[in-house]
Amino acid sequence: MQRIFSGIQPSGIPTLGNYLGAMRNWAALQHDHECIYCVVDLHAITQWQEPADLARQTREMAASLLACGIDPRAHILFNQSAVPAHARLGWIFYCVTRLGWLNRMTQFKDKAGKDRENVSAGLYIYPSLMAADILAYHATRVPVGEDQRQHLELANDIAQKFNHDYGVEFFPHIEPLIMGPAARVMSLRDGTRKMSKSDASDQSRINLNDDADMIAAKIRRAKTDAEPLPGEAEGLEGRPEARNLVGIFAALTDTDHASVLREHGGRGFGAFKESLTALLVEKLAPIASETTRWLNDPGAIEAVLRDGAARAAALCDPIVAEAERLVGFLSVQGVKAGRA
Ligand code: TYM
Repeated sequence: MQRIFSGIQPSGIPTLGNYLGAMRNWAALQHDHECIYCVVDLHAITQWQEPADLARQTREMAASLLACGIDPRAHILFNQSAVPAHARLGWIFYCVTRLGWLNRMTQFKDKAGKDRENVSAGLYIYPSLMAADILAYHATRVPVGEDQRQHLELANDIAQKFNHDYGVEFFPHIEPLIMGPAARVMSLRDGTRKMSKSDASDQSRINLNDDADMIAAKIRRAKTDAEPLPGEAEGLEGRPEARNLVGIFAALTDTDHASVLREHGGRGFGAFKESLTALLVEKLAPIASETTRWLNDPGAIEAVLRDGAARAAALCDPIVAEAERLVGFLSVQGVKAGRA
């Protein structure tokens, strides 16, 4: 069985983009993979997080994942800072990664914007920690949204350079799993920008805890163009907002753009938006209520994360210890957890 690893930042309420691009695929993949899912709090602090909020958001993200159907007994769910091997392998990878590679990362350019001199070094180097997250488990498949593709290519470059530099075949090749018609959900206000937890406008996104009225209002106000929906997928060319709403509809009904348009082509956006709202409410309301149920029992969430961290550490400690041996670190018996 192939081993899967993926992560999500606890930097706010998950959006419909996180759900369709990642979380629901994570749940589906549990049937035929060994899955390790991580709430990546080390990644979250690459941008300032209020300490009290970070702990709460970590619990909330775990609750959302459990509500989306992650099974913490059959698989592993934990928070990244609880397993120190991520940071240990991260450091080794910082020394393998070339600056030229990081300079090509488009997400850094987007997030840093014009304020490059003033963002954290962590934000710049974070794709190397992401490589360590995955490779610490020798995981080979990584379900993510389209925006993470470039980071996974970098992870393969890092693995290959490590293997080359140390003359080993130690780290495997990893394969991105970028699935379905909503691998890149766009902002409801601007079809050329990604839907994001950190967008200043709450109207730009559906949050997984939005109630039916909020969902209806956001979809009603979502930007569209003046034409009715086309009858075929080619007609979405040059119409990013229409493509986005059709893609969301397709993902929620497990179909594709073409079959949504076969049914809804020719309709105006008013009617289509009503159908989309009903569908969103039907799919998201149970997740919101299940999340609330988990959040009413923070002790149970923490028990899941504690157990997950122990099982995650048991898998990655020997792999990271071997990477440290390959690098030439002197192993002082009994001093470092996980070293033989
Ligand atoms: P993060 O927290 O930004 O996003 C978590 C997951 O949600 C996906 N996603 C989207 N998919 C479709 N449309 C969108 N608008 C959208 N917004 C977000 C992301 O692609 C991602 O799959 N660096 C990662 C977390 C990470 C990780 C890892 C992922 C850390 N270590 C190792 C995989 C493997 C991140 O910041 O994701």
